[in-house]
Amino acid sequence: MTPADFAASIRTIADYPKPGILFRDITTLLGDARAFRRAVDELVQPWAGAKIDKVAGIEARGFILGGAVAHQLSAGFVPIRKKGKLPHQTVRMAYALEYGEDEIEMHVDAIVPGQRVLLVDDLVATGGTALGAVKLLQTCGAVVEAACFIVDLPDLGGSQKLRQAGVAVRTLVD
Ligand code: PRP
Ligand code: ADE
Repeated sequence: MTPADFAASIRTIADYPKPGILFRDITTLLGDARAFRRAVDELVQPWAGAKIDKVAGIEARGFILGGAVAHQLSAGFVPIRKKGKLPHQTVRMAYALEYGEDEIEMHVDAIVPGQRVLLVDDLVATGGTALGAVKLLQTCGAVVEAACFIVDLPDLGGSQKLRQAGVAVRTLVD
């Protein structure tokens, strides 16, 4: 599928969750069997046959894609969650995003130091969430191989910030 095909499968909602935001809603892509399969296939394509130990998915939409990506790569899955949701001891990071701020957490023992990790989310905007997740993973000793997203909002600069931080970035549509 071309970037235009992926774009056509994603719905845009104006003024959600706040006035002035154009919200890119990937639930329409997920509901389209062909688009969902192709998005997962194309996201993992550079790592087919590579040794990825863990896929880390960011709550909430990154869980849906990350689970599918982990299955495809025969890797384990690590949930990166909004604060207060994980039962065991966590590491936590505050971050800013396009429409607010929050904190994310992961279990302190989710990664064995040296494990190679692919970070997955549906969309990168300011990059605050993904950069926070990269820092959490690196704090726990992960080698973050790359970060993958279906959608990049390049005007918000997040993918560029990730690349400047030394993280390879794969996206399917701007
Ligand atoms: C969205 C999206 C990314 C993040 C990107 O999640 O799924 O995680 O925003 O924004 P950023 O690059 O500016 O950090 P959101 O925080 O809306 O949470 P949700 O997946 O639970 O809806
Ligand atoms: N996360 C941050 N900005 C977003 C947007 N415009 N659409 C969907 N998710 C987002």
